[in-house]
Parts: sequence; structure tokens; C-alpha cells
Amino acid sequence: MRFSIIASGAAAFVWLLFDTTLAVHVTSTNTVLIPGGYRANANLHRVSSGSRIAHVGSEIHVFDPNGTVVNVVTPSPATKTSAAVTPEETGWVTYANWLNTGTPIGSFGTTWTVPPVPATWHGQTLFLFNSIEPSTFDAIMQPVLQYGGSAAGGGEFWAVATWYLYGDNTFFTTPIAVNPGQVLNGGIQLVGTYNYLAQFTNVPGTAIEVDGGEQLTWATETLESYGVTETSDYPSGSTVFSDVTIILVNGDIAPVSWSTVNDPGDGLSTTVNANGGSNAVITIQY
Ligand SMILES: *[C@@H]1O[C@H](CO)[C@@H](O)[C@H](O)[C@H]1NC(C)=O
Repeated sequence: MRFSIIASGAAAFVWLLFDTTLAVHVTSTNTVLIPGGYRANANLHRVSSGSRIAHVGSEIHVFDPNGTVVNVVTPSPATKTSAAVTPEETGWVTYANWLNTGTPIGSFGTTWTVPPVPATWHGQTLFLFNSIEPSTFDAIMQPVLQYGGSAAGGGEFWAVATWYLYGDNTFFTTPIAVNPGQVLNGGIQLVGTYNYLAQFTNVPGTAIEVDGGEQLTWATETLESYGVTETSDYPSGSTVFSDVTIILVNGDIAPVSWSTVNDPGDGLSTTVNANGGSNAVITIQY
């Protein structure tokens, strides 16, 4: 009894936080913002860091870190129409990408620094991340740096969370506030066939493991944004993704050639400063 009262108090608090930060992004009462766009509220699942999300037939089972199954969902998986994403004013505005067609990826790491807080606040949401997707299924695994509100929480500050989207279902850890200048290591690691662990390896509380899903092949370094009304809603300067390294499951450095997609109309671009599978450098200019 006592436990359930505490739990519902916590839920109400989360809802309040979520409600105020998201006011400008709610297009209908049942739709909220995630990296990837607006989604049905009903298919969002906050998970504890260290959770394991297992694909079991057509179901997804969520295991709490203590091993208890806390949720079972049956997603409607969608097939991607194409691997590439068109740059948009809203959504993925600029990014670098590489599609692996050979030996599976064993790990994908990226280092970047939390940018300064944008000079202006118009309720915008910015997402910066390294991500990895299957070739044909609509799914993505991503350690995400966020400014502004999303379905996970957040607000007028930078915060990190790990997300897994599969078809119409979305799983995420609770955002953890980070400071401008803080160095982040976003990592995705193959830990079985095909099991992946995604997290900020230097921020505790951000880990999600996904087991028995699709092989992940399409790697990106991305800026995604919503509700931006002027350039100063972005941080000043640029974000440099460095130590961008993809190692294959056999231990070889992946034969990576990053290519970029830009949004020249809005002055947003991605530049590959050092290409390749090891210690590549990719800059997003605001
Ligand atoms: C395991 O975690 C779940 C969800 O957090 C909780 O409800 C349950 O009591 C925990 N079980 C044990 C044995 O600790």
C-alpha cells in the first residue's frame, strides 16, 4: 500500500514535469516528441538504466535490471522506405552517415562536448547523437544529448538519455542533466547475435540493452531539431564529433567512408574533417 502511494506520487511528478516542458510540442493530447518526430503517447516506455529489451517472437519484453519482466508489448514493426533521411527544417536537419554491408559492426563510439546553452529559448528541442539502425526495419538505437523537452522529460538545459525505437514503440531512460563543456562518450556495442548495449559510457544511468533484434548497419552522427525559430535557438559555433570509431565484430577497423547531408537553406552543415573507421572527426556547424 505504502509503496503504491509513493509510486503514484512519482508518476504525478513526472507527468507535471513532462506537461510543462512539452506544452509547445504537443500536437494533440496523445502525441509527444521523441527523437524521430511525434509519436503516440500510448507506445512510450520509460525504462530503468540497465534494463534489457528482448525481442521474443513478435513481442518485446522489458526486463528490469533485477531480471523481472516489467512490460510486454507487441509493436507494429514498419519497413523503412529507404535508409536515407531527407534533410528537413524540422527533424533530421544535417548528419553524416555510413551503411555497413559487410562483416557486422562490433562497436561504434563517438566523443563530443556538451555545447553552450543556446542564446535564445523558444521552446525548441535539439537532439545530437550517434545512432545505428537496421538496413530495412524502422528501428534505431541511440545515446542522445537533448536540449529542450521531449517525451522523456528535459527542459531549458542539456540532458542525456538512451533511446530505442522499434516500429511504433519507443523505449528511453530518464534524462540526466549535463553541463556545457562536459565530455560525452556515446557508445553502441554488440554483446551477442544480435544483442546491443547502448549508453553514454561515461554517464551512469543511461544504459539500455536490446536482445534478439535486427542487425544494426546504418551508422549516423546527427543534429535533429524541432521548434527552432531563429539561428540563436541553436548553440553558437559548432559541435565536433571526434574519436568516431567503428570496429567490426572480427576486430578489424570498419571500412568506413562517411558521407554528409546538409541543410544549406538554414546554414546548417556537416563536414567530415577526418574520414575512416578509426578516430574520424565530423563537425556540425550551426
Ligand atoms: C524488480 O524491479 C521491479 C520494477 O522496478 C520491482 O517492481 C520489483 O519489486 C523488483 N523485484 C525485486 C525482487 O527486487
